[in-house]
Amino acid sequence: MERTKILVTGGAGYIGSHAVVELYEAGFQPVIIDNFSNSRESALRGIEEILGVKVPLHRIDCNDAEALRAVFAEEGSLHGVIHFAASKAVGESMQKPLEYYQNNVGSLLTLLQVMREFGVEALVFSSSCTVYGVPDALPVTEQTPTKKANSPYGATKQMCEDILRDVANAPDNTLRTILLRYFNPIGAHASAKIGELPLGVPQNLIPYVTQTAAGMREQLTINGNTYDTPDGTNIRDYVHVVDLAKAHVVAVQRLLDQKGETVETFNVGTGRGNSVLEVVQAFERATGQQLNYKIGPARPGDVPAIYADVTKSVETLGFRTSASLEEALASSWKWQLALKG
Ligand code: UD1
Repeated sequence: MERTKILVTGGAGYIGSHAVVELYEAGFQPVIIDNFSNSRESALRGIEEILGVKVPLHRIDCNDAEALRAVFAEEGSLHGVIHFAASKAVGESMQKPLEYYQNNVGSLLTLLQVMREFGVEALVFSSSCTVYGVPDALPVTEQTPTKKANSPYGATKQMCEDILRDVANAPDNTLRTILLRYFNPIGAHASAKIGELPLGVPQNLIPYVTQTAAGMREQLTINGNTYDTPDGTNIRDYVHVVDLAKAHVVAVQRLLDQKGETVETFNVGTGRGNSVLEVVQAFERATGQQLNYKIGPARPGDVPAIYADVTKSVETLGFRTSASLEEALASSWKWQLALKG
């Protein structure tokens, strides 16, 4: 039987590559679009080694409408799109706001236009818990009001959500959309053939932790310990990237089954909050490595604490994460060791 084709933009990236694997293993035929601006060819080899087949790839930019049209025309019957392709560094977005708006908002507009031209009516969009800003109460539900973003990156996610809700509410709309608000993705595929590939000095916690343990960085600096949290360090909801990838498969299936409203929003997290110090301790327990770390100043713009209420995704999507923090961190370490070797 022919597999149902799903276009995956940013399919060579960190979350995208894991989603490609889970989609294929669930019986779909993923088709990758990537411009390799923040991803590498090695991810494609990893995917191929895991699946034992090559996944079709189109090396194009989602801002390029003509190239997108050519992909939609060549692939024929695309049943849906998962749109991962975007720039994601908070700090960089302050330096290059125009690039962020163009790359994140512009590419969504172009993609929506081409999807409409070709009658493709199912979309899963990568949103972020960053849309909640500094929440007044925890955990955050999908009903928690969003706050003004404190970076152009965060603003692009809010704008894209607004665009998708407006499109869904237009009278002649035929598009069905699921917005997935990711909390903090960590970990790697159990095979250690795909994982996060930060370019340069990592900005995110877990790659910094694993690179420090691997001797590539001298010391981890914990960004502040005087927050209003039990141990004074920031609290986040760290979700295993394979669990996150599986949420996309469930979302795609729901869209294809035409269940629910025309636009729906779901948190994707574990429902647990862990502090930076707890992550360090969990990493040491999970890997037997001693981590060299110190406490530094708070990082400007950091949200003191955020974690997900997952009631809606459990009850409506039937989705819950399965990996523990230790399991996720152990997989990050296995990946780091595979990269070194
Ligand atoms: C933020 C955004 C998220 C976005 C991501 C992209 C929020 C709530 N989240 O994640 O939407 O997708 O950036 O990069 O705004 N830390 C250290 N030392 C380090 C690195 C990090 O202590 O060397 C701490 C941070 O201060 C933070 C935690 O570790 O408390 C996680 O940081 P990080 O991995 O950068 O993710 P967020 O900032 O939570």
